Amino acid sequence: MEVSDLLISYKFDQNLSYPEIVNNLQKGDTLVIIEDFPLSDNDFQSFINRIGVSIKENRNNNGESIFDVKIFKQNNFFTSIANSNLAFPLHTDCADLDSIPNCIGLLCIEPASESQGTNNFMFLNNLIKQLSKNEIKELQNKKWKFRNHWRSILTSVNKSYKICYDRVTMESFSKMNKTEIEELNNLDKLFKSVSFKIKLKKGDLILFRNDLMLHGRDEIDINSNRLIKRIRFNVN
Ligand SMILES: [Fe+2]
Repeated sequence: MEVSDLLISYKFDQNLSYPEIVNNLQKGDTLVIIEDFPLSDNDFQSFINRIGVSIKENRNNNGESIFDVKIFKQNNFFTSIANSNLAFPLHTDCADLDSIPNCIGLLCIEPASESQGTNNFMFLNNLIKQLSKNEIKELQNKKWKFRNHWRSILTSVNKSYKICYDRVTMESFSKMNKTEIEELNNLDKLFKSVSFKIKLKKGDLILFRNDLMLHGRDEIDINSNRLIKRIRFNVN
């Protein structure tokens, strides 16, 4: 499958149909990308307000909904994984929260140079095609610890599935045995094999489902000025 089949592209200056964008996100089998998006926090926030309900978090800018994903150190330590230059394997955001936001918007203010910091995505649809009925069942039955919540990687909802996976969180809150580690290693390999890459340009806003796909990114140079603005939100 071509990457272009998985993307629905718009330009910001055309007459954007908000109901159409919401509809694409509700279906969740494509990524929405809006090129030439204005680079201000205000424009980003007002746009998201028209398509969904954004999540406020203390660590965000002014405790609101926008988080600056950039390399940032305090006393020689990265202030969070999001503020590091490290690669993120494919994952779900907020996998340990009581209520996991179903969408994420990423606005590229400053891309990393060349192929660095490339975003990776995997659609749950494409993963399901690679799994046997038994494997699907197992992924629904086995519960893993995400901080205070025991959750399965797959959940069935109205004849379709949702995914919740974040190995960093899962390994931080429980001691895994050898079989489990192997299981996760195999899953990571499988996820990667059905994933694809998108390199964001300055002014690209990408919108995608957090519960119907996994996302990650490649490593970035430690001195990079890469800046991505992020809003997590829910569409109904
Ligand atoms: Fe993430």
